[in-house]
Amino acid sequence: MADTEIAKAVNEIGFWWHSIDLNGFITPGGKSQQLLHNEWRAMEVPDLSGKSVLDIGAWDGFFSFAAERLGAESVVALDHYVWATDRPGLAKYRQECMRVAREPDPVETTKFWNPVDLPGKSGFDLAHRILDSKVTALNQDFLLASSAEIGTFDVVFFLGVLYHMKNPLESLEKVAELTRTLAIIETHAVEILGQSQSLAEFYPASELNGDPSNWWGPNIAALVGLCKAAGFSRVVVKKGPPGLGSIKSIARHIAATLGIPWGTRARHYRAIVHAWK
Ligand SMILES: C[S@@+](CC[C@H](N)C(=O)[O-])C[C@H]1O[C@@H](n2cnc3c(N)ncnc32)[C@H](O)[C@@H]1O
Repeated sequence: MADTEIAKAVNEIGFWWHSIDLNGFITPGGKSQQLLHNEWRAMEVPDLSGKSVLDIGAWDGFFSFAAERLGAESVVALDHYVWATDRPGLAKYRQECMRVAREPDPVETTKFWNPVDLPGKSGFDLAHRILDSKVTALNQDFLLASSAEIGTFDVVFFLGVLYHMKNPLESLEKVAELTRTLAIIETHAVEILGQSQSLAEFYPASELNGDPSNWWGPNIAALVGLCKAAGFSRVVVKKGPPGLGSIKSIARHIAATLGIPWGTRARHYRAIVHAWK
């Protein structure tokens, strides 16, 4: 495809979550190239040569295409929810609801759900075509997938999905079932200053980033414990709570440890763990 044709095709796609390098043409993306490369580095992905990879919640496929580029023998990009959603249409509808100060109507929002044509998969499909990729797309709710049906994978990416799960333990049991060797899990997480036992913050509505599909923020002890309870034998924290940084954070931490109420005790961050079978 000529550059002008790529630019036109990229622009026709209403929304990109991943900024992807399409042989020199960089797509827009909610996640910038810089952010994605930082994330990839922090994931400490092992040598993928000859390995099979499953990317659960692949969306536009940045991580699937990166695994393929780095020598994975086979890659499956699995997703369902965003692929079946007409995101630009839904966003416009929600904006209009906000403008006229009314709640979105659940029946009307079903108009933006299309599990047959998969309008939200067009970015993945375009990138797949331009990159001449051999990544296999699997349109499925991973909770309904079984190892008997789709097999097990040397490396499983479970990136940005855990906190969307209503039942985190059950979903990690499914990840463990599909993992032969290593699952790399990246998630929203919480640190409650002064608390080291396993705890998770629950978001009953849209408390986390205004998104009603976010349910849980585990602390690092809960994340490790969940992985072990789900069937992983060893869990290595690659990215835990951020350092205390400023004097104010240190003072807040001491106050929390001493039980003195002062400011917020919850700090949000993104955690990464390697969970080994
Ligand atoms: C926040 S996005 C993360 C996308 C990508 N993994 C990343 O880290 O940039 C969450 C993704 O998980 C997908 N997802 C959520 N629940 C799922 C499920 N039960 N089965 C398959 N995909 C799911 C969503 O459709 C969405 O693409």
